[in-house]
Amino acid sequence: MSGRGKFVTLEGVDGSGKSTHSGYVEALLQRAGHRVLRTREPGGTPLAEALRQVVLESPMDGVCEALLMFAARADHVRQMIRPALEAGTWVVCDRFTDATMAYQGGGKGVPAALIRDLANATHGDLWPDLTLLFDCPFEVASARLASTGKTMDRFEREGRAFFERVRSAYLDAAAAASARIRVIDASKTLDEVKKSIEENVSMF
Ligand code: TMP
Repeated sequence: MSGRGKFVTLEGVDGSGKSTHSGYVEALLQRAGHRVLRTREPGGTPLAEALRQVVLESPMDGVCEALLMFAARADHVRQMIRPALEAGTWVVCDRFTDATMAYQGGGKGVPAALIRDLANATHGDLWPDLTLLFDCPFEVASARLASTGKTMDRFEREGRAFFERVRSAYLDAAAAASARIRVIDASKTLDEVKKSIEENVSMF
């Protein structure tokens, strides 16, 4: 019988390269002998993916965004994340509640107390065991986003001021929970970032 799996999340500003690295985190954990489920938020289930489409494309205010993020999360946690962890599978999730704190809280001014209440109602005491926070300045992130040539979603189209509010909310969260949230300098080269991921994952 295997024990409960660990819950690993990846966070960061848009353009930090976070999603590129989630496959690498999965591979490292598999190499260490773990069964791994890799997923993302908003998304991960048919309902949550449908909500993702709405929240990334339809104009709405921050409270509405937060409610939809948690609606998607409630389904994702119940259908995928909790069952996987209970079966001993490790879960690697691209974004979780830290993103709501940073984007809707820091970026859009939604009160932290409301986000905490929604988090409590949605996932109770389930919090990531480890969070890798990919951090980089606006110039690096916007150059990366432009180089992908992809159509940008509502959040990626926000300007520098929004980016800076989200970035500093993430860094504040990391300072307040330094044992769980490890900051990775995402402006470094791909090899350096990978090395930093390895160090943080192997310490875990
Ligand atoms: P992604 O591009 O990393 O897949 O994330 C989609 C966008 O959704 C990204 O710009 C951040 C945003 N987002 C929030 O604003 N709040 C949240 O709670 C989550 C999970 C994502």
